[in-house]
Parts: sequence; structure tokens; C-alpha cells
Amino acid sequence: MVRFDHTEVPVQMDYVNMTRASSQGGTAAVTGRNVYRLVAVIFGLLCVLQAALNISLRLTTLHSASKIKEIATEATCTNTSQELDKLKRKITTIDSHRRQGWVYFPSSLYYISSTTRSWSGSRADCLRRGADLVVIKSREEQAFIVKFNLRVWIGLTEKEGAWKWVDRSQLTESYWAADEPNNYEGTKEDCVEIRFSDINNSWNDVTCGEQHFWICEKIV
Ligand code: BGC
Ligand code: CA
Repeated sequence: MVRFDHTEVPVQMDYVNMTRASSQGGTAAVTGRNVYRLVAVIFGLLCVLQAALNISLRLTTLHSASKIKEIATEATCTNTSQELDKLKRKITTIDSHRRQGWVYFPSSLYYISSTTRSWSGSRADCLRRGADLVVIKSREEQAFIVKFNLRVWIGLTEKEGAWKWVDRSQLTESYWAADEPNNYEGTKEDCVEIRFSDINNSWNDVTCGEQHFWICEKIV
């Protein structure tokens, strides 16, 4: 009996142990699964968070880019509208002057007198008109002036032995007639007229009191 009991107990014990062991193994498996689940959930949440961050970053970038674009467009529009206003004012100025007999040649308006005066009298008239005697700064402008085929004063005088334009600039390109300037026969010829309508044979120095037509220039 004792042996029976003895043999029975281990059998029972084994069963119990086995049950315990299998029950413990099951708990461990369940706990492991839970950990996996937890990790998966955390991983999933991290992914969602990352995606949300990416989207918000993208939106911020897009917003900044569109804001920059918006500001740039505004600046361009402001510039364009200012340019347009400037152009409108220029056209209005040209139109009103043309109605009063001025002639436009890029980028100035020219007034050709219908009477004659001394050089300083002519200049005074130009100044009164908000202009000055013409300053010839290019071959194109010289060609434009000689086409009037008139003897006219230009804004060039001799001061302390040097030729100076009325805008105080130096004489750089000149269109003197042959043998000019010459202070003819020892006279003090300190003012300049257009004498000939040939571009390269055109300017002459004369005494400033001579009476000539004149051309005023207003830069627009
Ligand atoms: C003018 C001078 C000029 C000369 C040229 C004269 O009548 O007064 O300025 O130089 O002609 O021959
Ligand atoms: Ca001369």
C-alpha cells in the first residue's frame, strides 16, 4: 500500500507539476505576446507620430514657400505699378510739351526758338521754361540737332580755357567745323553755335553777344 501510495503520489505530483509547468509556460507565452503587442502598439504610435510630424513639417514648408511667393509677387506688382505710374507721368509730360511746340527725341524734349537772342539771353529763356540750352552727348543727338538746318546756340561755352557744357560736364565728343574753334581774328569767341548741318563739320565758336536762334533741352 505504502508502495502504491508512494507510486501514486509521484504520479499525482508529476501531473500537478506538469500542469503547473504547462500553466507557467502558458502564462509566459501570454506575457510574451502582450509585450509583443505593446511593442507593436508603441511602434505603431511612433509611426503615426512620425507621419503627423512629416505632414505638419511639409505643410509649414509649403506655407512658408507660398508666403515667400506671395511677398515676391506683391513686391513685383508694387514695382510694376510704380514703373507704370512713372511711364504714365512721362507720357503726360511729353504730350503736354508737344502741344506747346516741343519735339521729343529719346530721352529729352527740345524747344526750338522762333526768335534770336544772345547766348545768355537764350539760356535765360530755356531756364524759364524749366530746361537748359541743349547738351549734345551722342552722335545720334548731334544728327537730330543738325537736321533743323538752323544756326542755333548750344549749351557749350569756354570757361578758363576749357569747354564746358551747361550741365557742368566736360566736353568729351565734339563736332567742330573745319579750323574751329579759332577765336576768329583774335576775338573772344567763347560761345558755340551750330553753323553747318553736316554732322562732322558743324560747330563754330562765336562771340557770346551774337544773335542766334537757340535750342532748349529738357530731360524726361
Ligand atoms: C565767324 C567765326 C568763324 C569764321 C570761319 C566768321 O564769320 O565769326 O566764328 O570762325 O567765320 O571762317
Ligand atoms: Ca569761330
